[in-house]
Amino acid sequence: MSGTVRIGVIGSGSISEMHFGSYNKNKTAEIVAVCDLNEERAKAKAEKYNIPHVYTDYRDLLANPDIDAVSVCTWNNSHAEISIAALRAGKHVLCEKPLSKTLEEALAVEQAVKDSGKTLQVGFVRRYASNTRIVKSFVDNGELGPIYYAKASCIRKLGNPGGWFADKERSGGGPLIDIGVHVIDLCWYLMGRPKVKSISGNTYNRLGNRSNIKNLKFYKAADYNAELNSVEDMANALIRFENGASLLVDVSFTLHAKQDELTVKLFGEKGGVELEPELTLIMEKYDTILNATPQIDNLSFEFVQGFQDEIDYFIEVCQGKKTTLSPVQDGVEMMKMLCGVYESAAQGREIWFE
Ligand SMILES: NC(=O)c1ccc[n+]([C@@H]2O[C@H](COP(=O)([O-])OP(=O)(O)OC[C@H]3O[C@@H](n4cnc5c(N)ncnc54)[C@H](O)[C@@H]3O)[C@@H](O)[C@H]2O)c1
Repeated sequence: MSGTVRIGVIGSGSISEMHFGSYNKNKTAEIVAVCDLNEERAKAKAEKYNIPHVYTDYRDLLANPDIDAVSVCTWNNSHAEISIAALRAGKHVLCEKPLSKTLEEALAVEQAVKDSGKTLQVGFVRRYASNTRIVKSFVDNGELGPIYYAKASCIRKLGNPGGWFADKERSGGGPLIDIGVHVIDLCWYLMGRPKVKSISGNTYNRLGNRSNIKNLKFYKAADYNAELNSVEDMANALIRFENGASLLVDVSFTLHAKQDELTVKLFGEKGGVELEPELTLIMEKYDTILNATPQIDNLSFEFVQGFQDEIDYFIEVCQGKKTTLSPVQDGVEMMKMLCGVYESAAQGREIWFE
């Protein structure tokens, strides 16, 4: 397929707006269908983006032969089921992160990709952002040398999105699986995707969702509800890799922190990099240490542009022009790491992989 790619979007809540907006701006994509359990919400998107077909059951959308590819923007508990059904129906899939709730589900999706011959792109949107692509080219050209340590934080002082995000049954977990996934993936991807050897993790639920707090805005699920909260409010982990490298990470939906924090740092034998909060390369030249700031439009992840870059890339994958930067195998490895942190925390000890 090299012409227009016809798209169905499944799940029309908060993040779907980034998908609709980006497909809408892509000249070789056409959104032909939308589906949501909540019909009004799906209809509102159909009206806004002039989409001919509206469904409330994703199976009906997948039965439409005029659809080439789908975005899966539903709760985490349906990512695997919908992705597998879409692949079997012959559609390419862009599945929002995380790939699934469990490792078993992720492996089943991987099998469906193999069986179908279609592509599944995991929504690791930050891989597609310009600051990440620049660092990747420096890493690939050996500028940092082997990377042996990475450190990432994604701290929200207040930001439990409520609704399904706070319901472990539907989300699979809290800040680790929701926002930790992005920073762990960035580090792991730029470290060269080393094989995981062991994980030591901790999760805490000491503060709850703090829905009592006033005067602070934060990201919310489309069906926000603060009554239920069965997820951790903070997690940290030390992940060791077979090549001897290690990754230290901490994340929170809420913490008694002075301010929100997003940092992604990688340290190699020849140089280092701070990807977030602002791209800086650290290197040594003629016995002097340099902090180098590239002259680029976005030194940090730019949300709207990041999604546009991810979706433009996905369209070219569907057209057979490119190979995805975030294949299903990486979604599987990520589930291994995320579930490993939860398992280590539950057992209160380091866990080892074969
Ligand atoms: N890449 C990112 O930066 C990013 C940011 C936010 C959310 N996300 C991911 O996007 C997904 C959706 O998050 P959100 O913030 O939009 O949540 P949301 O609650 O705002 O929207 C989810 C929508 O999916 C619908 N839905 C759920 N199950 C469905 C099903 N089986 N069939 C049809 N519709 C269904 C719900 O009715 C709801 O409208 C999640 O997996 C989340 O992790 C990614």
